[in-house]
Amino acid sequence: MKKKIIAANFKMNKTRSDVEYYFDIFMEKIDILKSKSFFTDTEIIFAPSFTLLRDVHGRIKPQDDFIKLASQNFYHKKNGAYTGEINLDMIKDCGCVYAIVGHSERRNIFNESDELIAKKINTIYDDGCVVPILCVGESLSVRNKNNQEIFIGNQLNSALRPIQDRKISSLIIAYEPIWAIGTGVAAKSEDGEKMHNFIHNYIHSNYQISELRVIYGGSVSETNITELITKPHIDGVLVGGASLDPAVFLNVVRLSTD
Ligand code: PGA
Repeated sequence: MKKKIIAANFKMNKTRSDVEYYFDIFMEKIDILKSKSFFTDTEIIFAPSFTLLRDVHGRIKPQDDFIKLASQNFYHKKNGAYTGEINLDMIKDCGCVYAIVGHSERRNIFNESDELIAKKINTIYDDGCVVPILCVGESLSVRNKNNQEIFIGNQLNSALRPIQDRKISSLIIAYEPIWAIGTGVAAKSEDGEKMHNFIHNYIHSNYQISELRVIYGGSVSETNITELITKPHIDGVLVGGASLDPAVFLNVVRLSTD
């Protein structure tokens, strides 16, 4: 069964003591939801900063295997003179089973190119041990010209070209329209559903992927989660701002599994 995903992207927030406090609350409350078998069809993913991966990993008990760890980024080279970078072995070593690739903040603030993103995707499938969460999303000017499908098709094509001829077991795409990230204005659920449907069709007609999940990101909140998550092609959400407070994120989790 394809589990739905509720993922928290902490971005560049929180210290180790913040995380201690966060998980004291989160793990206690999640136990209550767990007792109601909330998680048979749901996976929760945390993507904290690199410095917090071990701390978060330490808070996930073996029996809580519906909670997984993701890195927010990594560098595709094996090892060597790349000051400041973290490779795939290092994030695996910290317990990551997912890696976010090509978040729009990496593309726009740190100038990550389509070519670099494609290399990261290729490295992940060469290695075979983590699943990428590939982020795509159009800007407002692209959306205003109604060019979002062409734009997203191109982003998918350039990132996934290296795996075109391979049989891939699992891939997660995060559709995150840039105009919705951190703005408080999420995509309307009908527009989101349309794009997710487009992405599902696009991937299935161009790539051989056994399990594809397309999740939505951009101002997901307690207010809009129910509407988004009940759409047939929205397989989960990637939550930034609303994941930072454990009570709010717990509510998002709870509402998405109701
Ligand atoms: P947001 O961020 O929920 O704060 O809009 C989402 C993301 O960038 O992953």
